[in-house]
Amino acid sequence: MKFICLTLLFVCGITDSRSEQYEVVGPADPVFAVAGEDVILPCSVKPSISVVDMRVEWFRLDLKDSPLVHLYDDHEDRNTDQIQSYRGRTKLTLQELQTGNASLKLSTVRVSDEGLYKCFIQSKSWSDDVTVDVSVEAVGRPPVITVDGFDRSGGLHLQCESEGWYPEPDLEWLDSEGVSLSSETTETHRNTDRFSVKHTIIVYHSGKIHCRVKLKDHMLETQINTTNNRFISWRTSVILSSVLVVLVVIAGILIAVFALKNRAHIQLQDEHRKIQHAHDQLQDEHRKIQHAHDQLQDEHRKIQHAHKQLLQDEKRSIQNEKSTIQHERDQLLQSQKIIPPKAVKVTLDADTAHPRLIVSDDGKQVRYVNRLNAVDEGNNRFDDYLGVLGKDGFSSESFYFEVQVKDQTKWGLGVARESSNRKGGIDLSPDDGYWTVRRFNEKYSALDSSDVSLSLRVEPQRVGVFVDYEKGLVSFYDVKSMSLIYSYTGQSFNEKLYPFVGLGYRWNKNSTPLIICD
Ligand SMILES: *[C@@H]1O[C@H](CO)[C@@H](O)[C@H](O)[C@H]1NC(C)=O
Ligand SMILES: *[C@@H]1O[C@H](CO)[C@@H](O)[C@H](O)[C@H]1NC(C)=O
Repeated sequence: MKFICLTLLFVCGITDSRSEQYEVVGPADPVFAVAGEDVILPCSVKPSISVVDMRVEWFRLDLKDSPLVHLYDDHEDRNTDQIQSYRGRTKLTLQELQTGNASLKLSTVRVSDEGLYKCFIQSKSWSDDVTVDVSVEAVGRPPVITVDGFDRSGGLHLQCESEGWYPEPDLEWLDSEGVSLSSETTETHRNTDRFSVKHTIIVYHSGKIHCRVKLKDHMLETQINTTNNRFISWRTSVILSSVLVVLVVIAGILIAVFALKNRAHIQLQDEHRKIQHAHDQLQDEHRKIQHAHDQLQDEHRKIQHAHKQLLQDEKRSIQNEKSTIQHERDQLLQSQKIIPPKAVKVTLDADTAHPRLIVSDDGKQVRYVNRLNAVDEGNNRFDDYLGVLGKDGFSSESFYFEVQVKDQTKWGLGVARESSNRKGGIDLSPDDGYWTVRRFNEKYSALDSSDVSLSLRVEPQRVGVFVDYEKGLVSFYDVKSMSLIYSYTGQSFNEKLYPFVGLGYRWNKNSTPLIICD
């Protein structure tokens, strides 16, 4: 007996698992639901086997994360995760589940219930689903007609309004014969999920007027009776009252204008008085300023006068000073009995030139070359200092010559005794028989009893050498500015003095010549 039972169970199990291959079917068309009423969302399995032991899940396909509408699982409704707005409004019937009918009953439909639903049925070894499209309609309140009154041309303004519809309904005006009339203005509002519509119309004839609001199979209508009498009485009373209103308005405007004008006039007078006052003040100020100005001009005239006198005094004193100076100078000149120096023609003596120097053929220029010229040494020739002497020496009176040193940065020039030492490291000092000034780079100096450094304001381009043989004076001048560079005074000469020019010791990177200027 036990064995038979086990066998039966086994066979039943096989049939069960084979029959568990099912299809979930739903409605082919969208399901229409009316707000406030109940609706069935059809869903069933084919063939019609019991789904009591299965999991039945309804959820919204069109919302984010497909939230749960209803869940039946493990023989019970498990709706803890259900969307809040569906709470208590969904129902699966156990009886129907036994016949494979998993249709969901949704009570008191809301506009927000519109959307796509999925019915998903899962057994231990199989699952399938179907989508159900739900459309919701909400029927609004009956339309209300309001009379807005007549306009001047005698037209009656009517307004028809109806609210609480979903989706948006059609509103139309009809006359007593049922002919559609075109609306003057149309308005649609949407509050939360319902629509309200408002149309206006102007009617010129008496008779019945209908306002009809339609949505699919739903229709609500209101009518208004407009009779001839009321029309005329309305019209005349409206016209009369309009005329009265216009008259009152005109009178009002006239009074207002008059009052305004009056007030404006008073204000203007006030302003005028203020301006007059300001004007008087300004004139006062002006008079004061004029006075100050006159005083200033007086001061100015006095200062000019003082200035002129000062200038004249100054001029006179300068002239006095000038004549004194001139007088002193004349006296000085006379006392010194200066004899104008004799400018002499100097030519350089190539036989005295250092072997690295080249003296031009006319004897007027000397420059450095970086080689030894093939010349005999001779006693008169410089062999260490790059010097050269003039051909002719002078031993009486005074003489003067000029040397152009422009662009040369290493030079020495002046006069040398006939017996001066020309060999080896000579000093270019009076002790060695030389009276010179020298330049080495930016430094100028003279070698008197000691080394004298000279500070010159400008680089001399040409140096004048003046010798007063009798007085023992050798002076050097910057020719251009006629300023004294240095003077050797109180010297005693007892032999001929020769012009001397040189380009420094041993070498000179600068090949610019020194030029004797006549
Ligand atoms: C399925 O069940 C619903 C109630 O939940 C019922 O209204 C509907 O008629 C049933 N459909 C079939 C085909 O029996
Ligand atoms: C309008 O007139 C009709 C008859 O033409 C009448 O039945 C209806 O009550 C009237 N409605 C109003 C609001 O006076």
